[in-house]
Amino acid sequence: MERIFLKDKYFVPYIPYERIEKAIDEVAERINHDFRHFNGVPIVLCVLNGSILFTGELMKRLNFPCEFSSVRLSSYEGTLSTGITRKVLGLTSSIKGRTIIVVEDIVDTGKTITDLYALLRDAGAEEVKICTMLLKPDVYKKDLKLDYVAMEIENRFIVGFGLDYDQLGRNSKDIYILDKQASMKHYLIFGPPGAGKGTQAALLVERFGLRHVSTGDLLRREIAAGTPLGLQAKTLIDKGELVPDSVVEGMIASELEANPDVKGFIFDGFPRTTAQAEHLDALLAERGARIDAVLSLAIPDETVYERIRHRAEVENRVDDTKPEIIRNRIDNYHAKTEPVIAYYKGKGVYKEVDGLGTIDEVFNKLCALM
Ligand code: AP5
Ligand code: MG
Repeated sequence: MERIFLKDKYFVPYIPYERIEKAIDEVAERINHDFRHFNGVPIVLCVLNGSILFTGELMKRLNFPCEFSSVRLSSYEGTLSTGITRKVLGLTSSIKGRTIIVVEDIVDTGKTITDLYALLRDAGAEEVKICTMLLKPDVYKKDLKLDYVAMEIENRFIVGFGLDYDQLGRNSKDIYILDKQASMKHYLIFGPPGAGKGTQAALLVERFGLRHVSTGDLLRREIAAGTPLGLQAKTLIDKGELVPDSVVEGMIASELEANPDVKGFIFDGFPRTTAQAEHLDALLAERGARIDAVLSLAIPDETVYERIRHRAEVENRVDDTKPEIIRNRIDNYHAKTEPVIAYYKGKGVYKEVDGLGTIDEVFNKLCALM
């Protein structure tokens, strides 16, 4: 089973058709067992549109006389005697005095099914049994007994086998789940050395629950651990030169792999070249994701010097110590990193704020953009 793309989102395989079939076999067997001595003809009531495939598959397996009917629930409107603000639409058979087997695709909070149950009883149904293909037990909060549940699932957005995303995906015979990676947010915090990328990223991470990925911090960790990569990087960083694209690209790929459950990422100090930006886009595209926004901090070179000089008194970064190294970092920024701005402007995701002002002032401006 491959990943599928519907409208603007990627979905990954969740329940293969073979498992769905098996679950339907089992639930049909239980219904057959319960109705084996039933005197009369129940109506199998398909709740459109989602349960169309499930109802078809289920009915093939029922071995007692039954009728078929379908129904739809209106969206909320007006107030009926039941106090329920919905209406049953398109009910073709009279249900007075009849036994109904309602067939639903999915029950989550239970609002729809409890409304429908009440409306059918109100319309004179003698007995209403509920059969649902899927139940989200974590969010089902009603007391109504669900007589037949084919499968239980976690509280995730799914499509396929009758269920849709914006009317698409109903015809898929397998069930898919929204690709988490595709729904993650991916931000860049961008700017020259000392612009406040690390400072602001730390605040944004706290506010928005994202994962902060700073290639500078990752490289300094490698250096501290004395790894071969760290040793190679140290000679370049200490001179204010960039490390090779392939090194940081590998680090970013590992970070994405290692954090499948976060809400999103904020990349700090990456990408620093147009080649890195192209690589990141390709990496995200493989996951059905993209850069949502580039948050750029604009500050003049003089402020860069001031801030880095100030930081050198507090932190112990070799590349902060000598004016010529700071100069080289700034030169590299203008020569190699600034072109990345045009790249993201072309994609319509570039947003710039004035990086001067207090940390709080800058933070508020960034929050407004997010
Ligand atoms: P990296 O660690 O990314 O360094 P940088 O880009 O030079 O940026 P800094 O971390 O120095 O500054 P910042 O913008 O995070 O500012 P901060 O918040 O600390 O990279 C280091 C090296 O690693 C590179 O030179 C390169 O060799 C290598 N490297 C990294 N990524 C790479 C890549 N993708 N490709 C190739 N090589 C790569 O703030 C600075 C100071 O200002 C702090 O003291 C802070 O407290 C203060 N401050 C912040 N905001 C304000 C404010 N609003 N008002 C007053 N003070 C403020
Ligand atoms: Mg930093």
